[in-house]
Amino acid sequence: MRLLFAASEAYPLIKTGGLADVASGLPAALAALGCDVRLILPAYPQALEGAEAKGEGLALGDPLGTGETRLIPARMPDSGIDAWLVDCPPLYDREGGPYVDAKGNVWPDNHQRFALLSMAAALVCMNGANGWHPDVVHANDWHTGLIPLFLKRGKEAIPSVFTIHNIHYQGLFEPQVLESVGLTQEDFTIDGVEFYCKISYMKAGLRFSELITTVSPTYAREIQEPEMGEGLDGLLSARAGVLKGILNGVDYGLWNPAEDRAIARDYSASSLDVKVDNKRALQREMGLEERDEAPLLGMVSRFTHQKGIDLLLDALDGIFSLGCQVAVLGSGEAKFERALSAAADASPKRMAAAIGYDEELAHRIQAGADMLLVPSRFEPCGLTQLYALKYGTLPVVRRTGGLADSVFDVSEGKAGTGFLFDGPTPQELLKAVRRGAELYGRPKDWREVQKTAMEQDFGWQKAAERYMALYGELLQS
Ligand code: ADP
Ligand code: GLC
Repeated sequence: MRLLFAASEAYPLIKTGGLADVASGLPAALAALGCDVRLILPAYPQALEGAEAKGEGLALGDPLGTGETRLIPARMPDSGIDAWLVDCPPLYDREGGPYVDAKGNVWPDNHQRFALLSMAAALVCMNGANGWHPDVVHANDWHTGLIPLFLKRGKEAIPSVFTIHNIHYQGLFEPQVLESVGLTQEDFTIDGVEFYCKISYMKAGLRFSELITTVSPTYAREIQEPEMGEGLDGLLSARAGVLKGILNGVDYGLWNPAEDRAIARDYSASSLDVKVDNKRALQREMGLEERDEAPLLGMVSRFTHQKGIDLLLDALDGIFSLGCQVAVLGSGEAKFERALSAAADASPKRMAAAIGYDEELAHRIQAGADMLLVPSRFEPCGLTQLYALKYGTLPVVRRTGGLADSVFDVSEGKAGTGFLFDGPTPQELLKAVRRGAELYGRPKDWREVQKTAMEQDFGWQKAAERYMALYGELLQS
């Protein structure tokens, strides 16, 4: 099986969220199953530097009139997976993130940046690259949504899989840009890419791929309903027969408290006594009062409406009155950054907020906290709760999407691994934290649940096997 895997970000080259973890972990797991997988992503400066890019590459011409485009062969640093970096300096050679500049402003030419990524991937599918011809292409989120559409123009198109990581972000653009992204008026119809008078890259992916997947079974159901379908629930219900929910996995080579260079002291389920050293170190690092008995709640998150930051803010007083401490790491909407910082300034012994992006601190929070908060309004899969389970840090999560599929409430018996709540309200969140704090007060029981959590296997292998089976089915049909 030769697979082209297309994404806009991949750890450790460039990462803004879970998609980057998936784009490194899943291809590596597929390769371990014998799949000949190659990644394709834009040649951001960080990617060119981090991925051993070599040589001039392969000329693709100037397919969108944005400048000469080349495919530079590269290799992923940890897994050694081969990658193609789509190089077009006017589009990608700039400081900043994949979607926004250093100030957080959306790049004004994202329609072309990601149309070119999709066009380059489609060209590899149709013509091959250096003699390598994929059997299947796997596109991820709206940034690569045009791949299935571009492929349909070729004569013998290879099949495509399109994975929804988050249907909230759809890549919507004004119809005026149609021709500048390689589309025509004929594409701009209700059966094509038109979505409420805009061009939707997400819709292109959903409409023209052979198979749609999303990152958890519960989210696969949720997005077929108006409440969470973001206007695409009708299309998704119509394609329900080819829509599968496959829970993401964890790269335990990177997320394992027994071998984690970022944390103060390594530990495992049989040396859980050591975990408190990580808690003390985290309390020191973040300026919290060093108290073993205070349940320490961690959170590592983008600060957006999705993540329920406001629920946490509104529940804070109640959380403090339970004797808990809170350590947050994240960045995003300015109002949430300001409010969390202000809360930390007002109660420095009980609350700390690190604003920014810090991969190593994320590991130290996973290792040092007693519980991990994920109060999301919706969550396609969520990875931080999976990491938390491995670190014996019990998740407090809303019962939605992948959170509902990966955390089991302690009230449900021996298999319990965390604390779930239903309504997206501060009161419900607080009730779940209260149950956590109560259990934390019973160290023996707490320890049992930690062990159950650490025993869970959310490694990538299971998901990779499912994807392999699906690619195989596509080739036979
Ligand atoms: P999403 O993709 O919606 O942001 P996930 O839970 O799937 O949510 O993935 C988030 C990923 O990004 C995790 O690897 C998490 O550790 C990481 N992350 C989020 N915010 C930060 C941050 N501020 N610093 C370091 N890592 C972060
Ligand atoms: C998205 C979702 C998150 C998921 C990640 C990786 O960013 O918000 O829930 O874990 O993609 O699939």
